[in-house]
This record gives sequence, C-alpha cells and structure tokens, in this order.
Amino acid sequence: MSTTPQAALTQRLRAALAACGLPPERGDVVAAADTRFGDYQANAAMVLAKEAKRNPRELAAQIAEQFDGGDLCAKPEIAGPGFLNFRLEPGWVSRRVGILSADARCGVPEAEERLKIIVDFSSPNIAKPMHVGHIRSTILGDALSRIARFLGHEVVTDNHLGDWGTQFGKVLYGWKHLLDRAALERDPVAEMTRLYREVNAIEQTDPAVHKAAREELVKLQQGDPENRAIWQQLVDLSWAEFEEIYGQLGIRFDERLGESFYDPALAALVEKLLADGVAEISEGAVCVFFRDVPALADKPCLVRKSDGGFLYATTDLATIEYREERWEPDAIWYVTGAPQQLHFQQVFSAARRMGYGTKLEHIAFGSILGEDHKLMKTRSGDNVPLRALLDEAVTRARAMIEEKNPEMPEEEKKHIARVVGLGAVKYAELSQHRMTDYVFSWSKMLSLQGNTAPYLQNAYVRVRSIFRKLGTELGAAENISLTEPAELALAKKLLQFGEVVPTVLHEFRPNLLANYLFETANAFHAFYEACPVLKAEGPARHSRLVLCDTTARVLRQGLELLGVEVPERM
Ligand code: ARG
Repeated sequence: MSTTPQAALTQRLRAALAACGLPPERGDVVAAADTRFGDYQANAAMVLAKEAKRNPRELAAQIAEQFDGGDLCAKPEIAGPGFLNFRLEPGWVSRRVGILSADARCGVPEAEERLKIIVDFSSPNIAKPMHVGHIRSTILGDALSRIARFLGHEVVTDNHLGDWGTQFGKVLYGWKHLLDRAALERDPVAEMTRLYREVNAIEQTDPAVHKAAREELVKLQQGDPENRAIWQQLVDLSWAEFEEIYGQLGIRFDERLGESFYDPALAALVEKLLADGVAEISEGAVCVFFRDVPALADKPCLVRKSDGGFLYATTDLATIEYREERWEPDAIWYVTGAPQQLHFQQVFSAARRMGYGTKLEHIAFGSILGEDHKLMKTRSGDNVPLRALLDEAVTRARAMIEEKNPEMPEEEKKHIARVVGLGAVKYAELSQHRMTDYVFSWSKMLSLQGNTAPYLQNAYVRVRSIFRKLGTELGAAENISLTEPAELALAKKLLQFGEVVPTVLHEFRPNLLANYLFETANAFHAFYEACPVLKAEGPARHSRLVLCDTTARVLRQGLELLGVEVPERM
C-alpha cells in the first residue's frame, strides 16, 4: 500500500497531458481546500494555457477528454477559469480503506531517496537551567526526527550541549567562593544558576572579581586539574537533570557531543582555514569574509579573537568537519531559535567555502509568550524552568481526570495525567507554525475542545471504547462498502494520511500533520453523529467498524510521530 489518491490521480493526469502533447510533469494534483466541488484539483490547464497563449477552459476540456479515471474517478469537472476538479469514486475509496486498514504504515510511503540526516536539537547549556526557550527545540527536533525516521531516512540525533563557554569562568569563581553545599545537594542546577547570576552581578561593579573569573576560565581552558574536575561535576549534575526531563518526555539522543568535545580541534582548524585561504587575519583576529554574499558582505565570521580565544562559530565549524568525517551525512538540521539566524548563515557560508556540499538547514522558531503576550517569564522575571513547567502540566491534567473520572484506579490516573499533560505541552508547540510567537495558555492547551492534544486523545479514546463495547477486535477488512457522505468524507481523510506526513519535511512544519489530525478527528465525530456503528447491521456495520479502527490507528500513529502518546481511557 503506497498509492495515495493524490499519487494515483497525478499519474492519470500526467497520462492525459501526454496524450494532449503537453509536458506530463506539469500535472500536479492537490487536495481541494473546499470539498464541495471535488476532492482534488489541478491548475495545469490554466498554467499551460497561459504559457501557450491559449484559452484555459478549452485546454481544460481537451485534457478532461483525454483523462481516463478508470475506477478511481469519473471525468474531471471544469470549474472557474479552468480548474480541473476530481471526485473519487466511492467504490475505489471503499477498497482503498480496506487495504489501508491492514497496512502497518497507515498508508505512508517510504521516501524514494533514503538520506542520512543529523539532527542537532535541544542543546541546552550547562550550569544554566533548561528553560522554555529550549522546549521548542526539544519538541520540534524530536518530532522532525521521528517523522524522518518513519519515512525511512537514517537519522542521527545529536545533543550539542553548551558545555564550554564563558559562563564557566563565573561559575568556577562562584563555586570556589560562594558555594552553598546544602543547596547544591537539593537542587544542583538551581545552585549553579545562582552562582552564575551572583558572580555576574558582582562582576559589574568589582573589576577584581571580573578579572578573577576570567582567570578561572583561562585555567579551565588550559587544563588545570582542579578546574577540570569542578567542570566535570557541573556537567554531570546538569546532565542528570536534563536526562530526567528527556526521560519524562520520551526523548532520547544517539549522540551527546557537546561543545567541549570539539575544543581540542579548534586551534588546528583555524590554522587550516588560514592555510587554505578560507580565513584571513584582520586586525589581529581571524575571520572568514563573504565579500560575494550581499547579505553577509559586511558581516565576516570571526573564528579566532585577537586574544587567541575561539568562538561559538569556530566550534560549529569544527562540529561540521567532525560530522562530515564520521557520518558523511546528506543533511544536517539545526533546530535553534530565530535569534541565531545570522550565526548559522555565517557558519553555513563558511562551511561551503571549506568545500562541504552537505545540505545545512537552520530550522528556526519564534518565541513562547506569556498570557500577557510578552516573553514568558516567572513572576520574578526569570525564565520559566522546563521541569517546573512539565510538572505543572501533569498536575493540571491530573485535576481534570480527578473531576471527570474520580473512580479510576490510582495507577491509571497517574499514567493518564502524564500522557495528557505532557501531550498537551508538546502538541501546543507542534500545532503552531514554528515561526509564530505563540501564547502559552494552560486552559487552551488542556481544553477538550479545539485543536489540542486532549481533544485528539479523547477522539482516540472514543473509538477505542466502541471496540471495548464490541468485546472483540476487528477481523479481516474485506468487502468494505461506504455510501453515506459522512463515511466517505472520513474515509477520504484517512487516505490522505500518506499524503500529509511527507509534506511535513518540505518546510519542517509538523503543524501540517497536527492540522490534519484535527480535521480527521472532526471528520470522525461528524461520521459518528450521522452513522450508527454498533446499532448498524450487516455490511454497513462491518464497514463502519473498519472505518473506526482505521481512524484510531491513524490518530495513534500521527500522534506518535509528534511524540504524543494516547491513553486507552480518559
Ligand atoms: N547551546 C545553544 C543555545 O542554547 C544551542 C546550540 C545549537 N546547536 C549548534 N550546533 N550551534 O543557544
């Protein structure tokens, strides 16, 4: 099963174009936005008529004449200025749903070309808490990785930890002079953050502390054993907390090669860039200039400061060099916020100058706003720590379940609270266009109405409850016969799953999949209202049960691709 309606129609439209002596590759078919006039449409006649200075409706009629829909659809209708509208035959739709219901991939074809993709995401900073800014990278990166894997690509996920920056000078100084051991035991990341903040504040007014913190950093960089040992503790303690969060979210990484991993390679890299003429010395510093790239003409990429220090970009170039050597990837995806756009433009341009042809993608995203539409902060003005946020999600979901279903056993309540609460946070992120700044609203994301995880999870639960009442799972899905408009509308939606999933990767937009799942749940509810299932009889009952079962599988698979679990009850 890999033929989607779109693929089948495209093939037939191309044959018709060829029969008319027109270029077949122009025959693209898309799902209709408004299904009153057809299920799919094509604008090929309009585009080709314009190029040939012909009448579009006449050309459309000629194409329609040559179009052989077989059992898939009747002759297309010509609408407006020359659109071709296609309506799928109920018999074909019924048969395809039968096939879909038995397909382990829910109709999603594997990518024609299997790519090796490195996904660099989450990448929080050590000795700083992971905050809501990192949540977007973590959730988006995980969903994109899952989808790429499902489509058959070879994916390596890498957490490029910020474990080697100037923050360590301050934290080391703080560790030696201001450390509260008891606080460190209680909440290590909070204590490290406090040290960082405090030293940062003292530094502003006390040049001696500023100098001392710098010296601690230099000692660390030079391999001083004491500072190295403290640094290792900072990394281990932070990682333990990050890991707990990833575990809770069901996210794992294949690699965890932080910035420190590349430190030993930086000096040689800069020398090589100089020797190869990629970089040049400018006022004592080493830079890569992009005089031929208009957007970057006056924005060189600094790779070594005049004091000999290396930069974020130097590490990223060393990272690319390492990844190229180790994996020879086809693409590297960086899931990092929009403020780093310039950084990645520079790094990607420099990488091309180094001779790397790999497709490098910065998958940027906007900010999360508080309900006041300003950047989301705690009452004291700090970033909201991710752990606290996830805990609150689970607590709130728990309250919902307590109200809806107080009789439920404790274990189940706990499980559902986790699945619903964390699902809601993830889905709120993934159902937005990644570039929009979205408002983080508990009441909206946990609502059982609207485009939310609980709504979709509830739709899944409703379908499953039909099978609980039925008492058995479904047998062979043969002889499906769908005739009611609501049945056909749902069936056509289900057949589109295989069309939607691959499009997510075109512009890295999981929200396309989220929207699709929302529409599918809506189509299910409309069907369920219009068509009795358990009370129906004979072939109608069987066909409707197959539709229900397939709906559940598509919802579960789609949510799984977004990293959202489904409960069996709610
Ligand atoms: N640690 C960085 C931050 O928190 C993100 C790193 C992104 N990845 C990269 N290869 N630069 O902003």
